[in-house]
Amino acid sequence: MRAEGQCIMPGFVDSHTHALFSGSREKELGMRVKGLSYLEILGQGGGILSTMKRTREAPEALLIAETLPRLKRMFRHGSTTIEVKSGYGLDKKNELKMLNCVRNAAKIVPVDLVSTFIGAHAVPPEYKGRPDQYIDHVISILPDFRELASYVDIFCDKGAFTAEHMHRLFTEARELGFGTKAHVDEIENIGGTRTAIEMGATSVDHMVKTDDDTIELLGNSETIACLLPATPFVLMENEYPRARDMLDANCALALATDMNPNCWTENMQFVVSLAMLQMKMSIEECITASTLNGAYALGVADKCGSLEVGKNADILILDAPNHLHLGYKIGINIASTVIKKGRIYSGAQGPQGT
Ligand code: NIG
Ligand code: FE
Repeated sequence: MRAEGQCIMPGFVDSHTHALFSGSREKELGMRVKGLSYLEILGQGGGILSTMKRTREAPEALLIAETLPRLKRMFRHGSTTIEVKSGYGLDKKNELKMLNCVRNAAKIVPVDLVSTFIGAHAVPPEYKGRPDQYIDHVISILPDFRELASYVDIFCDKGAFTAEHMHRLFTEARELGFGTKAHVDEIENIGGTRTAIEMGATSVDHMVKTDDDTIELLGNSETIACLLPATPFVLMENEYPRARDMLDANCALALATDMNPNCWTENMQFVVSLAMLQMKMSIEECITASTLNGAYALGVADKCGSLEVGKNADILILDAPNHLHLGYKIGINIASTVIKKGRIYSGAQGPQGT
């Protein structure tokens, strides 16, 4: 095949998603438009907990059937490696079910999936008002997830878990050989980012309310900041991660979709547009952040993230004469062909497929 006149780049590495779940939450958009906040919607039984209910009810076959089309569309938009988190089961049985589904989905889609256990995503109804006991429970079941997940994650923010919870969880997770990641500074800065960096987390994700001192600490660390601009976009926030300040402080940045029922984008090309328009990142910074740095954030940079001898042939061909069309064309799919491990997907099998 020929790619004359087109632009070739590494496949996207989408390093933060919650792409496996049952149901949808389309009614919440109208609630947000009326002015309800994410935490208010959560307080009314919406948000993570409503997806938890649907996901607990769903048998494995249904969960996989709902998730596969999403993963295929993500692939058709150019993502060749995707991280998928648990976090809608919130008990041992259902978290295991989710990660088992990720493992089975990976056998079907032409995408490498990296699994993350985020039992500490929300406090489930059985533990309402008892987050300490729930964290104890999550810590106690960690060994059961060693085979199914590479990373342990926590939602450390107002209305969720504290930096102290993170410290306890990560201490145990590291002992067991998991990598660690954290949702931090999305709603408020409650100190979790500092704890995560000091504990050697692979990535700190969201990072909207991060202060100067923490940015400096991050710049002097090995931890990658995974920025998710689609989330403030759907929450109609005016504040985005301070990407320019982070880059000036020598931080390594990754970009990802955060694909979840609250932020339903499957398109890394759209995330690049947002990163440029809302965070003033250059197209070159965006390409690095959405490919190679994403691969570092998932511990797979030896296999993908750049076009190099010895790595997988995970290649994205853009229907564009140069890379400047990425970011510039908003919300549409300019992928013409996606190549995964040397296998070519184009036409109905690739970006034009439904
Ligand atoms: O990364 N902030 C916490 N978790 C997800 C949202 C999950 C959901 O709303 O279902 C996030 O944005
Ligand atoms: Fe997330």
